[in-house]
Amino acid sequence: MNIILVGTQWGDEGKGKIIDILSAQVDYIVRYQGGNNAGHTVVVGDREYIFHLMPSGILHKKKICCIGNGVVIDPLVLLSEIKAIKKAGIDIKGRLKISTLAHVILPYHRILDCLRESKRKNKIGTTGRGIGPCYADKIIRCGIRMVDLLNPEVLSEKLKDNLKEKNEIFKKVYRHSGYDFNPIYKEYLNYGKLFSPYVSNTAHLLNQAIIDKKDILFEGAQGTFLDIDFGTYPFVTSSSTTSGGACIGAGVSPVKIDKVIGVAKAYTTRVGEGPFPTEFSAGFGKFMRERGHEFGATTGRPRRCGWFDGVAVKEAVMLNGISELAIMKIDILDGLKEVKVCTAYKYKGKLFKEFPHDLEVLTNLKPVYKTLAGWPKMRFKPRCLRDLHPNARSYLKRLSDMVKAKIALVSFGSDRKDTISLD
Ligand code: IMP
Repeated sequence: MNIILVGTQWGDEGKGKIIDILSAQVDYIVRYQGGNNAGHTVVVGDREYIFHLMPSGILHKKKICCIGNGVVIDPLVLLSEIKAIKKAGIDIKGRLKISTLAHVILPYHRILDCLRESKRKNKIGTTGRGIGPCYADKIIRCGIRMVDLLNPEVLSEKLKDNLKEKNEIFKKVYRHSGYDFNPIYKEYLNYGKLFSPYVSNTAHLLNQAIIDKKDILFEGAQGTFLDIDFGTYPFVTSSSTTSGGACIGAGVSPVKIDKVIGVAKAYTTRVGEGPFPTEFSAGFGKFMRERGHEFGATTGRPRRCGWFDGVAVKEAVMLNGISELAIMKIDILDGLKEVKVCTAYKYKGKLFKEFPHDLEVLTNLKPVYKTLAGWPKMRFKPRCLRDLHPNARSYLKRLSDMVKAKIALVSFGSDRKDTISLD
């Protein structure tokens, strides 16, 4: 079975844990978009791993992990993850495959990301990792790809071309001294040598795997509302985070996909700027942030927290073709007197049951809530749905009915064992 796993909110839904669980059941795990703006946390026993680029499935012996053509790669970050994994005693020989077509983040992308952000009136709150500028170069057709690092002449020509234009922009627009060719050329040529054992045509590899009846998990990064098309633009990331991105970012046809699984937190979080209809008030937000340890895995920034947004997740279910949902961190709502679910939005007297696209509406609307009774803190670890308090079960049923997707899994802790399967 070929499964795509996506986030249904603004990222940080807890995809890392579900990817880790599903990885045990498949042969190949593929990252298909984003870069080291992502941070997937996986807890195994008393060890915590945070991956930014490496597919989290690497922790499972014998699984093949691919970084697809849709990913943007900061070589230094990937190298340090490879090093850390090897140090943890995990053998990656023959298991890590990097697409020849994946674009590479260069030092000027990182700086441009920060400089552009500093000039913007309405800041996006990017991770500052150079993601947007790297994707921009890809789209305007001057990007440098993994395969280019393996060819000294091509790399030299492309880098010279890029620096000529970019150094003018640096100097004239940002009053920055720009970059010299030689140090970057040497550094990236060396990355080419270091990565060459891993670089290959991953689209061929994956399509052959499908012919051989192998199972593939496509792991999405970020979330639906950070999607470049369907997210709260311009407060989004620069890639297609929705399920369609998996086909483009891996080179696998949509007809080969069997299922799309969505991941949602039992509440909502968002890092960075932009509309967030169900955001808590400052005081309660701080309380929930500390309770849920809601700090970014990549930048450590405090995450904004809010109630579950049924309108948004329903939209995500539709956009991604989600049939099954994993609901994460239900335990963080334990002990609250009441819990709320957003069922619609209101703006200037008009009721919105669908996610609006107009930024003015999105920014100023008021959520319409259904308030449900809370439930006490769990005294023991639930093993099945029946072990959950009836009010927690009602809450889950309400979410599932609202967003029109079956809840297949409920998670109440970071450990692999802290999970209830509802199949
Ligand atoms: P960028 O992807 O660094 O350009 O950041 C654009 C927006 O996406 C910012 O609001 C970031 O905080 C947000 N973002 C990017 N990656 C993640 C993620 O993995 N989790 C949550 N938010 C993210």
